[in-house]
Amino acid sequence: MGSQNVVKKLGNAARVILVGAPGVGKGTQSNRLIQRYPQLSSIATGDLLRDHVKNKTSLGQQADVYMRSGKLVPDPLILNLILTELTSRSWISSDKTNDEIIATLGKGTAVQPSNSPDCSFILDGFPRTATQAQALAHLLPMNLVFHVKTPADIVVKRMSNRWTHLASGRVYNVGFNDPKVAGKDDVTGEPLVQRDDDKEETWRKRLSTFEATSVPLLNFYREKSPGMVVDVQGDSSDEISPQIFAEIEKRFG
Ligand SMILES: *[C@@H]1O[C@H](CO)[C@@H](O)[C@H](O)[C@H]1NC(C)=O
Repeated sequence: MGSQNVVKKLGNAARVILVGAPGVGKGTQSNRLIQRYPQLSSIATGDLLRDHVKNKTSLGQQADVYMRSGKLVPDPLILNLILTELTSRSWISSDKTNDEIIATLGKGTAVQPSNSPDCSFILDGFPRTATQAQALAHLLPMNLVFHVKTPADIVVKRMSNRWTHLASGRVYNVGFNDPKVAGKDDVTGEPLVQRDDDKEETWRKRLSTFEATSVPLLNFYREKSPGMVVDVQGDSSDEISPQIFAEIEKRFG
């Protein structure tokens, strides 16, 4: 994209969530946003979790117990991770400890994040359900939700064209990273296979699961504040980015 080197300033704090099916390129949009608006950070709950587990912090040790037994890390713990990150950046301040805030969520203890544009972030990985969105709203107010949409047929076509050479792990993408001989690994000439994860029906299932949880999630935000959810739609990331940029500039420019 020609606009990749453009850098813009925000006029007030953006607290953004991207909601979109797997395969629609949320990571790409997130990276482009951070490039364009240097005041915007990505706060990714998956990364926070890994960091805390690696550093053996108290939260990390608590989370590790769940992860080791293959369970989901409970929402209050994830909220505490987010709160701990925002506190360590001095983006929120409270006379309560983080544990006290989390223990009394929903009882009028929401924190007020700084409105400085330097305290702008995209929250990545959370919330994924309406229940999580409600819990997050008890903690702090987000102010913009993008619903990133690409027709399912296009996502499925794009994602279900990965073919793998099992022995080496080499991956080919039909259409833009084709093997030299169809169905054969470039190096060994051995046959390529399509992993179950990459099959069309697996992608269809993934998309319908996403649909089922994202409808109530988006409805939660629509009901919370009309105009909070902005739909952006396109067949490719390049079609979607300009719509996202325009909305950010309209609201926070
Ligand atoms: C983990 O440790 C690294 C290196 O000391 C530090 O930079 C990082 O902020 C720590 N993260 C957390 C979540 O404790």
